[in-house]
Amino acid sequence: MISLNELTKTYGRGADSVTVLDRLNFEVGAGEIFAVTGPSGAGKSTLAQCINLLERPTSGSVVVNGEDLSSLPEKRLRAARRRIGTVFQSASLLSRRTASENIALPLEYLGVTPGEIRARVGELIDRVGLGPKAHSYPFQLSGGQAQRVGIARALALRPAILLADEATSGLDPDTTSSVVELLKQLRTDLDLTVVFITHEMDTVRQIADSVARLERGRIVETGALVDLLTDHGSPLGRALQPRLRFAAADDDAATWYVTYDSADVPGDWIQRVSVDLAVPVHLLGASVETVHGINTGSATLGIAAASDDAVRAVLAKYGLSGTPDASRETGVGGAPVSPVRSGAVPALEGAA
Ligand SMILES: Nc1ncnc2c1ncn2[C@@H]1O[C@H](COP(=O)(O)OP(=O)(O)OP(=O)(O)O)[C@@H](O)[C@H]1O
Ligand SMILES: [Mg+2]
Repeated sequence: MISLNELTKTYGRGADSVTVLDRLNFEVGAGEIFAVTGPSGAGKSTLAQCINLLERPTSGSVVVNGEDLSSLPEKRLRAARRRIGTVFQSASLLSRRTASENIALPLEYLGVTPGEIRARVGELIDRVGLGPKAHSYPFQLSGGQAQRVGIARALALRPAILLADEATSGLDPDTTSSVVELLKQLRTDLDLTVVFITHEMDTVRQIADSVARLERGRIVETGALVDLLTDHGSPLGRALQPRLRFAAADDDAATWYVTYDSADVPGDWIQRVSVDLAVPVHLLGASVETVHGINTGSATLGIAAASDDAVRAVLAKYGLSGTPDASRETGVGGAPVSPVRSGAVPALEGAA
């Protein structure tokens, strides 16, 4: 369990001071994965450093399992830091040490006996699925394998909290998914509290229970992932939707951008909407996936119906929200912009 109370970090003094984190409050329970997203420079890494206490907060507190780490004297702080394992974008392995020897490092620093180290490292190597690579050197490992070594090393001292700062950001999508699956398994097996920092929304959808968006040092929005994904009015929810590519609607049809707003959208909703409106509904693009057991996503439709209100009402009946004329949509995230109507390329990127 981790709880931030009015956490503030200011660098410098007087007129030159900059407040990088401004009174942050949130709580992450044991076994929960909390994702923090936000643009470059928002303060995400500074937040990570304040949580693992490599940086002292200027004010406010970081409480881990009931203990306020921010007020501990230096000596006890060192012990407290062991309860927090950190994984960075680059695994930063020592090149002259094998995977096993890298994982052993924190145990060696702590003076654990060689026999105990061997047993613990063997267990960790298996946990991260790297048995066959135990004696490989970093240059013989792929990026995903190196990251697994980094995760095993972060877990060596049995932390209660795992902090990941862009831990999957340098990896390809398949490797990212496998590292995400590993982290989810570890949080279940070890009841870890995970703070997962990333700018990749696809990864957030795969891994998070809850999400916060950090902008200029402030949390501008936070909530459970499923709630955000099904809240049409939420900018973070929209940013979390996958970027849609979509085809052009027929000339006599309007383009509608539709999002799942409820956990109970029927599977045959497109057909039902078409029957209710008594007009054809063309599917121009869609991305639907199951997140925490419910279907979420969005679709772009071509609908030749008379009134926008009628379309909205029918969509609402099935737990959907619609925005007409997506071509003029310039909203955050997944909302598509300016469809191309001509030429051989029927699809285009969503909003940047
Ligand atoms: N030691 C420092 N002294 C002064 N300013 C700092 C210091 N460390 C970070 N900052 C500033 O704090 C702000 C947030 O930086 P931070 O690295 O936390 O951002 P970030 O969200 O992790 O960005 P990115 O996505 O690029 O990794 C930046 O404006 C940065 O210049
Ligand atoms: Mg960063």
